[in-house]
Amino acid sequence: MDLTIRPRRLRTSETLRKMVRETRMDPASLIYPMFVMDGENKVEEIESLPGQNRYTVDRMGEELERLLDAGVTNVMFFGIPDVKDEVGSGAYAEDGVVQRALRLTAEKYPDIYRITDVCMCEYTSHGHCGVLCGHDVDNDKTLELLAKTALSHVEAGSQMVAPSDMMDGRIAAIRECLDENGHTNIPIMSYAVKFASAFYGPFREAAGSAPSFGDRKSYQMDFHNRREALKEAMLDVEEGADIIMVKPAMSYLDLVREVHDMTDLPIATYSVSGEYAMVKAAAQNGWIDEDRIVCEMATAAFRAGADIYITYYAKELAKFIKEGRIG
Ligand code: PBG
Repeated sequence: MDLTIRPRRLRTSETLRKMVRETRMDPASLIYPMFVMDGENKVEEIESLPGQNRYTVDRMGEELERLLDAGVTNVMFFGIPDVKDEVGSGAYAEDGVVQRALRLTAEKYPDIYRITDVCMCEYTSHGHCGVLCGHDVDNDKTLELLAKTALSHVEAGSQMVAPSDMMDGRIAAIRECLDENGHTNIPIMSYAVKFASAFYGPFREAAGSAPSFGDRKSYQMDFHNRREALKEAMLDVEEGADIIMVKPAMSYLDLVREVHDMTDLPIATYSVSGEYAMVKAAAQNGWIDEDRIVCEMATAAFRAGADIYITYYAKELAKFIKEGRIG
């Protein structure tokens, strides 16, 4: 055969394949989501997320040490309070569970970079992401509480806030509140493009945050929409977001690419609980090769344009990257 161009030539050895690799990864780009709960001396396995636990603040050090050993230094904290109320006051309580987790981490594990998810749903008795007016989430009233929550996280030691509520105008409200209080250098990672997704199912079980009535479709996005995703991303850029997130990851990589191409901000994507649970379940049945699937999913996210990957598999991925199995 008189073939001049043979793409296979560059695939003939591992050395060549690694040389021409287009996607490179670094554990510094990974964020591990971690659940901290009220109470004492408890580590609870999360049934819907095999291998993931909820920790009381006095026991969370065990996991932080494992993360540091694996080379994962970025953690996003989610709080699970014992008591919930109509207005989610646990979210912005000075001695709230996330606030205590932040103080302990800052004091004992200064090498961990502390990020906090800012939302009301884990703290409200009705499980919605804001305060209610009748059966509807009141956007503008919720903004005040979100800003208050973000400020209280930062005052307790959060180094980056990540609002995940999908209220209109929350980036501007949080930015203004942080700036007024002298926190001009705290970045906001906006869950800007967040879809109303069945992929959050296992998380809601983990955090006990499923809405007690209705669903989140009046604030989270309809997954049929692409242009609306770009609108949401643009709005948050204009309001002063520092990092834009697309969530979930695996089924939304088209939007990771589009948002990446549209803005000059770093892009994060969150491989959510449902993605993790599907992989685990199939792996436990022996139907897939877990490690290789996890490597492919992460690589695809970075290849699509993500700069930051939030994943329950952060420790494993950091190891795979260091071993040269990927990236
Ligand atoms: C809080 C929040 C959720 C997730 C991140 N922040 C749940 C939801 O919106 O219902 C989902 C994370 C995951 O599924 O891993 N609003």
